[in-house]
Amino acid sequence: MSASTHGITGDHMTDDEKRAMKEQFAQFRRLTWQQRLTVASQLGDLTTIQRQMLADNASEDDALLTENYLTSYHLPEGLAATIRMNGHDYLVPMVTEEPSVIAAASYGGKMAASGDGIVTRTDTNLLMGQIVFQTVTVAEISRFVTPNEAKLLSLANQAHPSIVKYGGGARKLRVRALGEGFVSVDLFVDTGEAMGANIMNSMLEALGHHLQDVLEQHPVMSILANDGQQTLVTAAVNVPVANLAKRNAAVGLTVAKRIVAASQIAQLDVSRATTHNKGIMNGVDAVVMATGNDWRAVEASAHAYAARDGQYRGLSRWQLAGDRLVGALTMPMHLGVVGGATASLPLAKLNQQILQVKDVATLNQLTVALGLAQNLAALRALVSEGIQQGHMQLQYRNLAVAAGATPEQVPTVVEALKTHAHPSATLAKAIVTKLNQQ
Ligand code: MEV
Repeated sequence: MSASTHGITGDHMTDDEKRAMKEQFAQFRRLTWQQRLTVASQLGDLTTIQRQMLADNASEDDALLTENYLTSYHLPEGLAATIRMNGHDYLVPMVTEEPSVIAAASYGGKMAASGDGIVTRTDTNLLMGQIVFQTVTVAEISRFVTPNEAKLLSLANQAHPSIVKYGGGARKLRVRALGEGFVSVDLFVDTGEAMGANIMNSMLEALGHHLQDVLEQHPVMSILANDGQQTLVTAAVNVPVANLAKRNAAVGLTVAKRIVAASQIAQLDVSRATTHNKGIMNGVDAVVMATGNDWRAVEASAHAYAARDGQYRGLSRWQLAGDRLVGALTMPMHLGVVGGATASLPLAKLNQQILQVKDVATLNQLTVALGLAQNLAALRALVSEGIQQGHMQLQYRNLAVAAGATPEQVPTVVEALKTHAHPSATLAKAIVTKLNQQ
């Protein structure tokens, strides 16, 4: 999109001008893209170059995907090479801004492949939704729902008939007391190859209207549930302990025992469990984003599952079995390979091609497998050399880029930063300034 130069100001605004600008906020969604660009530029005191950057990254296609569109925000994408799952080697596209995540996933994948690779299974794959009523008892609702279940399921299917054509559809209903007078009618749907948020919500609303007529009560809400308890995937791996050490097998056993201890700590302590799971989500989210799926839903379901018995715990577990370190990760995973952003983001489709994954079950499993590899690499580093060594190498590169180093200057800046005890953004800037003066 092209930025007109009209209204460009890099000057600071007076308080009155800022107040006038803020008044426009109330009308914001009526502004044209050019007007939004001008408002944002004036408010942020953006320079002409910065304004041009917003315009250069904007696209008319992306403008259709969201509201009050300004620009498109790009993130780096890399490939984890390779994740061996169920005997097949995958090159996995990952979108992440965090240094060392992709290197760690690749390293974890390599360690996993040094054993039997990662083995996965889908435990269940039904999306759940809820229609919640108040001041009605479970008995009252069940009296109608239980004998009419088949009819109600067929009514739900009529709200989205195409899913039945693809072999999916509404599968069962359950009535549940939530406490304090609230009752949930839970609908379980096989959403096929789609993540299925729209399928589910259309079905719930249709069913909700019907139940409202019968029960003479308006539901409080009808919405899918992101808890994911019915969409569980397990990935498991066993690695010869000798392969965990770079030097000798004895060290490998020590590393394996420490990984087991790290796994125990994540079961006991909420603080550690949170970081342990954050490490898993480093990998999981990166694949979810690369494939155009909803990472907020995946995050919410992962953390709800981690706290399913009342205490938040690590999602993966590691133990020793003879000369093997054995790990397993079970977590909810309910992605889509069709529909939603998987269809509207061209890179999401392209990444599916790189993955060579055509069915959602494989994508769900591969994402959890990647999470397990990520966790293995993180724990291995944490209990041996620590994560800073690998992390800082990449962090130096980021500092150099952020300081404005050209691609040619980056290696020199990285080398210079390495020699300092406390490398920082200020130091990186000083090094770049010096290079530019030479
Ligand atoms: C950093 O992004 C992730 C780790 O902190 C994960 C972990 O501690 O297990 C290294």
